[in-house]
Order: sequence, then structure tokens, then C-alpha cells
Amino acid sequence: RCNHKVAVLGASGGIGQPLSLLLKDSPLITELSLYDIVNTPGVAADISHINTAAKVKGYTGPDELKDSVKGAQLVIIPAGVPRKPGMTRDDLFDTNASIVRDLTKAIAEVAPKAIIAIISNPVNSTVPIASEVLKKAGVYDPKKVFGVTTLDVVRANTFIAEAKGLDPQKVNVPVIGGHSGVTIIPLISQSKPAVSFPEDKLKALTTRIQEAGTEVVKAKAGTGSATLSMAYAGARFGISVLRGLNGEQGIVECTFVKSDVCETKYFATPCVLGKNGLEKNLGISKLSEYEKKLLDAAIPELKKNIQKGEDFANKK
Ligand code: APR
Repeated sequence: RCNHKVAVLGASGGIGQPLSLLLKDSPLITELSLYDIVNTPGVAADISHINTAAKVKGYTGPDELKDSVKGAQLVIIPAGVPRKPGMTRDDLFDTNASIVRDLTKAIAEVAPKAIIAIISNPVNSTVPIASEVLKKAGVYDPKKVFGVTTLDVVRANTFIAEAKGLDPQKVNVPVIGGHSGVTIIPLISQSKPAVSFPEDKLKALTTRIQEAGTEVVKAKAGTGSATLSMAYAGARFGISVLRGLNGEQGIVECTFVKSDVCETKYFATPCVLGKNGLEKNLGISKLSEYEKKLLDAAIPELKKNIQKGEDFANKK
């Protein structure tokens, strides 16, 4: 088994803390680096007392950013501001775009070969931003930049299992497209095990999966967005990346990547994760008529989000 250093950027936040906790519990990690602009000494001290192998170290403030990512094989980024009721993920753009740009610049400099998993929203735009920054630095490898969309799969699995009385751990529904509103395309027709619903129920489930984040934002009533389920999903994705790096076969996660399976430059699909990151994009497979309509609705929005990210990263 390989040694793996994992860095979490934004480690003191609502997502960052439980994500770091779950990563500390993984035997695949030998070093866990926790970076934030605030509170990491406390978070790191606390997590470091857990009796698992990973050595935990906290880093605070821009001066310590580079040290935190140096030598990391995987950098997970949940840094940024979360939504409040009435906000879309795109409303976060103005703040989070520059955070992701600046963090990626540092990664490009000191850990150019690291795999980057981006949680900071709007993911449809922050993944293109990070990619443009890496291109400018001459270190871009499209097999190593991922938008974390695992929570959409986790939610789809939960809701479908609930509706059918199944064990949610044994349900797998691929979710493709992007990571906001109509760009989230659950492929319920490809669910394993196979399930079927009358049309109205299918539509209601699809909308619930697309709007699940907003469901949490509303329930939290101004105190934030999904943090615990997001941390769970982020940890699952990160650990899958590490299992792939270790040479384990057949590790598949849906994730938002540079892609040519569709007419947008980036697109989430099930992907095989391997020794160099993205090993094989498994593409879309056969869509139902209803899912084709969802795809048609997603593409213009996705294109706009991607363009917005690229324009931001390339503006003078
Ligand atoms: N570098 C590192 N950390 C930063 C920076 C930065 N430049 N700017 C902000 N942070 C940190 C904050 O200090 C905070 O600890 O990011 C953390 C964000 O935590 P929360 O405000 O609790 O937000 P959270 O709910 O974790 O969501 C963060 O993830 O899902 C997305 O939409 C969500 O974009 C949002 C992000």
C-alpha cells in the first residue's frame, strides 16, 4: 500500500471539519493536512487525538498554504461561502471563484501532480476555473481535476431506496451532467437494481434530487447548506481516488470532469478511477426519453456556467 498525504483546504468549515474527521478514520491516509484561514490549530489538535495512523497537521493563513499542499497526492477543496435561503449556487460565484483560483495557483506551484477534488460551489464553474489556472501554469492534466458530485448520487440512492423499500447501501443510481439545479441529471432508468415508477412519481423524484441541496438550505434557515452529507460524499469520493491510486480495480464514481462525451467541455459521468486519476470515462449509456429531455435542458445552463468560469480565470 502507498503512503498518501491528503490536504483539505477550508478544513475548519461546516464541510471541512466532518470531512477531515471521516478522512482521519481512513487507513489509506498517512498524512492529513488541514488548511484554513481560521481555526485550524484547534481543529487539527482535536482530530489528531483520534487513534488512527494518519498524522494530522494544521496550517493557517496564506503563508502556510503552500506547506500544507506540498507533497500531497490529493487536495480536496471545500473552502468558500455557503448558500443562504433564496440563493442559487451561482450566487456564490463572486466570492468562491477567487478563492478557488488562488488555492489552485498555490497547488500548481508546489504540488503540480496532485489530484484536485473541488467541492466549492458553483462546481460547474469552479472546475473550469481551476483547470484554466493549471493550464496557465503549464501543469494541467485533465485526468486529475474533479468536481465532486458524489452527493447527487448519495441523495439519489437514498430517495430511490426510500421509495422502493430497499437498502440504500445496495442502490446505485448514476447522476450525470453538472452539480446545480437542472444540470443535475439522475439516470433512474439505469438504477441498479432496476426500478420503475409511474411518470408523475419519476418526475417528482427527479426534481427532489435536483433540488435536494435547496431542501437543506431551507431547513437550515440561514445557517448554511449541506455540510454533513456533503462531507460524507466528499470523503467517499476522496477515498475512492486513493483506492484507485493504490491500483485497486473497478473503482467507479460519477464526477464532473473535462469531457467529450457531450457537447459541453466538462460533464459529469461515471468514471473509473485509477493510478493516474481518471482512467476511463464510462460515458452516458442509453438514456430514456425523459432523461434525454433533462439533458437538453441541462446543456445550455451548463455551457453558460462553464463559460463564466473560463472567462473569470482568463480575464485580464
Ligand atoms: N482559503 C481557505 N479556506 C477558506 C478561504 C480561503 N481563501 N476562504 C474561506 N475559507 C474557509 C472558511 O474560513 C471556512 O472555514 O472555508 C470554510 C467554509 O466553511 P463554511 O462557511 O462553513 O461553508 P461550508 O458549508 O463548509 O461550504 C463551503 O462548499 O458545498 C460548498 O456551496 C458550498 O461553496 C460552499 C463550500
